[in-house]
Amino acid sequence: MNTEPSVQSMDNWPEVEATARQVLGQKICQHIEQARQLKRPESHLIAILHKVQAEFGYLAPAHLDAVAQLLQVPVATVSGVASFYHYFRLHPRGKFMINICLGTACYVKGADRVAQKLMDELGIQLGETTKDGLFSLEGCRCLGMCGLAPVLTVDGDVRAEVTPDRVASLLEEYVRKGKA
Ligand code: FES
Repeated sequence: MNTEPSVQSMDNWPEVEATARQVLGQKICQHIEQARQLKRPESHLIAILHKVQAEFGYLAPAHLDAVAQLLQVPVATVSGVASFYHYFRLHPRGKFMINICLGTACYVKGADRVAQKLMDELGIQLGETTKDGLFSLEGCRCLGMCGLAPVLTVDGDVRAEVTPDRVASLLEEYVRKGKA
């Protein structure tokens, strides 16, 4: 049961609302207002979070809090949904986004070993960004290029038949691009 008080009963609701609107921007606020006209506004939470991520690239704590306030659902619910689904990013993405395909065709050709090598070289797990902000690493399902397995993309550039041995030089190439 939700034991949180209605946010609109807060003494400082006008300031809270104004801040939340400023954080999310007019376009997202309009989506939230439309959802609030409907029967179960909270059932639109995932769609709203997708829009926030599309707009800002990731979901910062301030975004989650603002969505909770304006949609009038507990912050814990919004944070729980955002952290449950792997497609929501809770940190800013790096300069280069690496997507390693972990679909069946790539997996049987060693994508798991390539993914492990990427994680070892970068010092991060899937879904994370390196401390220097250069690389983000995501795992994904079939990229539709199974004949080139194992496949990964770096900012949309397709890299085919990647082996663990090629990972270090591939990363080095983007490190150089990042410095250029
Ligand atoms: S399974 Fe990797 S591209 Fe299809």
